[in-house]
Amino acid sequence: MTAATSHPVSSFNGYIRVPGDKSISHRAIMLGGLADGETLISGLLEGEDVMHTALAMRALGARIVKGDDGLWRCEGIGKHTFQTPTSDLDMGNSGTSARLMMGVLAGHAITARMIGDASLSKRPMNRVITPLTHMGAKFEPSEGGRLPLTLHGIDKLQAISYELPIASAQVKSAILLAGLRADGETTIIENTPTRDHTENMLQAFGVELKRGAQEISIKGGQVLEACAIDIPADPSSAAFPMVASLLTSHSKITLTRVGLNPRRAGLFETLKEMNANLTYKSVQSVNGELIGEIEVMGGNMLRGVDVPKERIASMIDEIPILCVAASFADGVTRIHNIGELRVKESDRLSMMAQGLSACGVKIET
Ligand code: S3P
Repeated sequence: MTAATSHPVSSFNGYIRVPGDKSISHRAIMLGGLADGETLISGLLEGEDVMHTALAMRALGARIVKGDDGLWRCEGIGKHTFQTPTSDLDMGNSGTSARLMMGVLAGHAITARMIGDASLSKRPMNRVITPLTHMGAKFEPSEGGRLPLTLHGIDKLQAISYELPIASAQVKSAILLAGLRADGETTIIENTPTRDHTENMLQAFGVELKRGAQEISIKGGQVLEACAIDIPADPSSAAFPMVASLLTSHSKITLTRVGLNPRRAGLFETLKEMNANLTYKSVQSVNGELIGEIEVMGGNMLRGVDVPKERIASMIDEIPILCVAASFADGVTRIHNIGELRVKESDRLSMMAQGLSACGVKIET
């Protein structure tokens, strides 16, 4: 077992570029693997989750390699269809790989078995299985709609109109990706906006979408055109040095090329409401995603806030680090509407309550 020892410092200073956005990296590999031609990806997150997506796309026939220049190249299947994988598709610990890949696979007439690690095998998959079954794919899941499961796709799915019962970008994305291979127009209604990286990237690959405030529609039969994708630094990773700097006086850091998509930036908005000194600079749009620098100045006393419940989807992965910031704030911070945190890779609510209580923080769930 390796041990880690931390030595406190009084301040943080300098420029930090955290690794590439995980959500966008998964999508770049999937869409690059579906597209006609060669997609060039810079800034890919090379963590285990994304590598599971890459291995699965390779097993289905896409050519995905990392060049000596550090760029990833995907030669997609274009107008062709997937090959039947010769072994199980292993999604590791990654819910995004599993759920989005079900949408990708559903519209190909092949049978594939999907497996995952112990944590992923406990996570609910019916949220994706249900709409994809309406579209015509068939599933043989383990008890309770879990992995391992066998998926039987079909070449032409049926378009559906589907109102998302939970605010989930993974479910929305799975249906959109299946919609690409459906007969007719698939419409998704989302009452709470969730991250829209799939929509942005599909458009970067030349796919036409209709996007309203709460509705997205996609016509089946469109072929993706390969393009160049430049992936921003992950706002979820940026959140950690950001909060560390906010909590230490005299800190001044600049986080570079961070994804600032408003549907991911709920933590940053909340921290500003808590009196944090954060400034966005040089904001630009790349492949439909806002990217910019965040200047963070530490030392302001933070104050407790009530987080609006409609903001939760835009900061779902950042609630744990928000709890750390809230522990140092003056007053109580209340966060509602976060039951989904119990069915992530771990039960994030219990873990935060246990960890912070052990540090003497008053926390109730
Ligand atoms: C993700 C969506 C979110 C998030 C996950 C990544 C995505 O999950 O928690 O880390 O890439 O679409 P849900 O869609 O289940 O809320």
